[in-house]
Amino acid sequence: MGPETIEERVPNIGLRLHRRHYRVLVGAGLLEQLGARVRQNLPHQKCAIISDTNVGQLFANRVQEALTSAGFESTLITIPAGEKSKTLERAGMVCDQMIVAGLDRQSFVIGLGGGMIGDISGFIAAIYHRGIPHVQIPTTLLAMVDSSIGGKTGVDTRAGKNLIGVFHQPSLVIDDVDLLKTLPCRQFNQGFAEIIKHAVIADQKMFRMLQSWKEGAAPALQRLIKRNIQIKSRIVAKDERDRTGQRALLNFGHTVGHAIERAGNYRKFLHGEAVSLGIVAACAISVKRAGLLPDHCAAIVDLLARFGLPTRLPQNFPRKKILDAVKFDKKFEKGKIHFVVTSRIGSAYLANDVTGGDIREAVESL
Ligand SMILES: NC(=O)c1ccc[n+]([C@@H]2O[C@H](COP(=O)([O-])OP(=O)(O)OC[C@H]3O[C@@H](n4cnc5c(N)ncnc54)[C@H](O)[C@@H]3O)[C@@H](O)[C@H]2O)c1
Ligand SMILES: [Zn+2]
Repeated sequence: MGPETIEERVPNIGLRLHRRHYRVLVGAGLLEQLGARVRQNLPHQKCAIISDTNVGQLFANRVQEALTSAGFESTLITIPAGEKSKTLERAGMVCDQMIVAGLDRQSFVIGLGGGMIGDISGFIAAIYHRGIPHVQIPTTLLAMVDSSIGGKTGVDTRAGKNLIGVFHQPSLVIDDVDLLKTLPCRQFNQGFAEIIKHAVIADQKMFRMLQSWKEGAAPALQRLIKRNIQIKSRIVAKDERDRTGQRALLNFGHTVGHAIERAGNYRKFLHGEAVSLGIVAACAISVKRAGLLPDHCAAIVDLLARFGLPTRLPQNFPRKKILDAVKFDKKFEKGKIHFVVTSRIGSAYLANDVTGGDIREAVESL
């Protein structure tokens, strides 16, 4: 193990009988060690590398070379970049390509890309031959700190995002921070919406650290990624299947955030940008319902803005479309609103006294 590599063992409840943890490696230069790293964790021989057109062009050659030199046989399957590829049809097409390539129950899947690739490649790994191992190589900050952890995989349908999916924990996650160097700034910043969310719901110390965050230092970024993996995995470990309400805390800012994404037809805002706006709304509601101090609410809004994230909606953006879309949120079970609020930075809970009126007011003042 290189001196800079941090290894985090993430509780793996779903596979408790076989294995208690899976490894998440965070470091620089990890792609070069990929073959050996995978070899340490998987006895299998053949794999499909699933990537998108942007990421594949940048890194697929290096990934394939590293695998070949460690004796693996890999088949590269590239799908068009963008959320519109995350469909059941596309997953079926990739499965067909895997069958043609001779991949079987002894094979595994490597997802090389951002959250879109992580979700669809994980879904494919979960259903191919009733489930084969999934290795994730996240290439966006959002995927490193959020989507690659927790085992939620899936695809979108016309009716909404992530409506079809399976829980399938990865066998190994490799976060090579060098891969983030090619990430456009807007994409990089959106990862901070989830990081700030984690700070608000679980880590006051990280919140303070972010307030004095300076760009550039790679070891600091690695530590930050690791800290976020710990926060998410600890919450997930308490409620892996999203049943008891504990995992729902990760949804802070997402009820309104998802509605904003939807109202913008998934084009106007990136996920993290919509979540940033959703966090602002959730904070306003928290001031009203959970006793969050207005100064602390302002500090959260300032922090989002520091990372170039939106904290106000454009004036002409149709608020009504957001309010209509809120109803689609999966957290609205049986007409009852479960809304995540924070009463102080570093903690959150699921409130059941938030009203539709509170949400309307918060969205209208965004
Ligand atoms: N499973 C979960 O728990 C979970 C959690 C949060 C989000 N998600 C999902 O994650 C997806 C969003 O993830 P995302 O923001 O990473 O989007 P993405 O995967 O679409 O990547 C964003 C863009 O950046 C490009 N890109 C990726 N890595 C790059 C790199 N290193 N250099 C240059 N370009 C690069 C991609 O090609 C794409 O165009 C959504 O589908 C969302 O539903 C899942
Ligand atoms: Zn999110």
